[in-house]
Amino acid sequence: MRVKGKHCRTVWMEGREVFLIDQNQLPFKFKIIKSSSYKETCRAIKTMLVRGAGAIGAAAGFAMAQAVLEGKREAGRREIEATRPTAQNLFYAVKRVYNARDAYQEAQAIADEDAESCKRIGEYGNKLIKKGARILTHCNAGWLAFVDYGSALSPIYAAHRKGKRIFVFVDETRPRGQGARLTAWELKNEKVPHAIIPDNAAAYFMSQGEIDLVIVGADRIAKNGDTANKIGTLEKAICAKRYGIPFFVAAPTSTFDLKCKSGKQIPIEERSREEVLYQTGITKRGKVEKVLVASPGSIAKNPAFDVTPAELIAGYITEKGILTPKKFQTARHPRL
Ligand code: MRU
Repeated sequence: MRVKGKHCRTVWMEGREVFLIDQNQLPFKFKIIKSSSYKETCRAIKTMLVRGAGAIGAAAGFAMAQAVLEGKREAGRREIEATRPTAQNLFYAVKRVYNARDAYQEAQAIADEDAESCKRIGEYGNKLIKKGARILTHCNAGWLAFVDYGSALSPIYAAHRKGKRIFVFVDETRPRGQGARLTAWELKNEKVPHAIIPDNAAAYFMSQGEIDLVIVGADRIAKNGDTANKIGTLEKAICAKRYGIPFFVAAPTSTFDLKCKSGKQIPIEERSREEVLYQTGITKRGKVEKVLVASPGSIAKNPAFDVTPAELIAGYITEKGILTPKKFQTARHPRL
């Protein structure tokens, strides 16, 4: 993706250093952070400075390469794998780099493959998008969630570039606001017409016939096609089924976890209650501030992901093509 006219990846490695776009500062500031050790890269993943399945995977692969270069192969693997539990790409990348002869080359290869896969997802997914389509997406499964292009947003960018005059409904995605903050920022950058909607407005727009298609990303896809994605995805899938709107999941095959037989085995991350109780924004004077937005003293619960059963999914847009749930379940694994 181009930022201020320059092509930029979300995460990359040069020598022993890993460079990351600080996603916690977006959309207010565009800042690149340098991490000089695997521990620093672990912290970046844990604090969601880098987030989104593919970007977490690439960052974890680079962190594993840093750990190997620092002579901390075993401790490094343990610490990296303990950063975030749900995104399969993290475990996929760490395992590959840990077992590689040349950890640095392997980590670079994973990042390149991620970008290439997402580009292909865009080409395949574009075929599903009709002229003038109104598409709903949840969270951020865009360029920022991967190394480049994105998963759910990649077909949207491809369709927009083909002049299909699409419109995107962007769920704000409480509590961290990845839709309102990141997806909206990306779409604006690429001049894709869009509107941010409250999370609880999707069913209304569907009931009014204003949404033609739903495309979301995935953090982990089990062998039976059940899909873990950002909290709120399940609700959108149920609503889409009710109104007969096709609901697609876009993900590279590195997100498939064939050891998980069904969604029941996918670990769901529980994040800090602070993310629900407080919100960060920018004042009219340009100061970034965190404020309490709930009744003082109340507690909160904050599961970060939910699982959408395969029966609600029309298909999976992958770098190998579009698979129906049936085709997915009967495909010869691994990686189809
Ligand atoms: O907690 P996050 O922001 O790392 O969550 C991951 C996501 O961005 C979403 O669930 C996304 O839709 C899938 S990741 C490409």
